[in-house]
Amino acid sequence: MNGKLAVIEGLDGSGKSTQTELLMKKLASAGISFKKIKLPDYESQSSALVRMYLAGEFGKAPGDVNAYAASAFYAVDRVANYICRWKSDYEAGRLIIADRYTTSNACHQLQKLPRHEWDDYLEWLQDFEYNKLSIPKPDVVIFLDMPTEVSQRLMSGRYGGDEGKKDIHEADAAYLKSCREAALYAADRLGWHVINCSSHGAPRSIESIGDELYSLILKEL
Ligand SMILES: Nc1ncnc2c1ncn2[C@@H]1O[C@H](COP(=O)(O)OP(=O)(O)OP(=O)(O)O)[C@@H](O)[C@H]1O
Ligand SMILES: [Mg+2]
Repeated sequence: MNGKLAVIEGLDGSGKSTQTELLMKKLASAGISFKKIKLPDYESQSSALVRMYLAGEFGKAPGDVNAYAASAFYAVDRVANYICRWKSDYEAGRLIIADRYTTSNACHQLQKLPRHEWDDYLEWLQDFEYNKLSIPKPDVVIFLDMPTEVSQRLMSGRYGGDEGKKDIHEADAAYLKSCREAALYAADRLGWHVINCSSHGAPRSIESIGDELYSLILKEL
């Protein structure tokens, strides 16, 4: 019997990796077996097109590559990662914890399209990745909702103030702001859980977000 797939999703710098690490510690302490995956797989050649896109080799603005083309870059990396890294674990019934997944395409690509095409895109995305490319459909998706102004500050902190380290998504605050609106639309349409990660313009504590995330995971899986 197949395992379960839990996805930790969120826009750039929203705390996905921080929360995934914390969740892993909590699961390990509770003796729950799992495998963690992280996408895109930057270590692998399978992410070459994603790296070229984020480095601006196809254009300096995210919109220089259309929503469907950029989505395909990320999707093929996921297929390669699935086959090589976690298909056997998943098919053996293991819990998989994913730091980003297909859902990241919904967050980052939807805003490139006019609003009346959003539902068509979401339907296409799910059919393309889960049916045509046959990678597993998540059992639960948790979206870490951090306002863009807050996540921009967190990212600048992570890069030690060196703005040059940001990729073409991270460097475009207006783009990320409209991605948040699109991501919340996708969350509503696709039934993701949303964790509000800020309070009065500041991030909530890592621990309190982590506690909420952990109880959601236990409840849903
Ligand atoms: N709740 C929080 N309070 C304060 N700082 C935080 C919080 N969550 C994350 N951070 C810090 O903010 C930065 C961004 O967090 P993190 O790298 O986990 O985000 P991410 O969503 O994985 O980013 P990316 O989209 O680039 O992968 C890190 O320096 C992290 O230590
Ligand atoms: Mg991360």
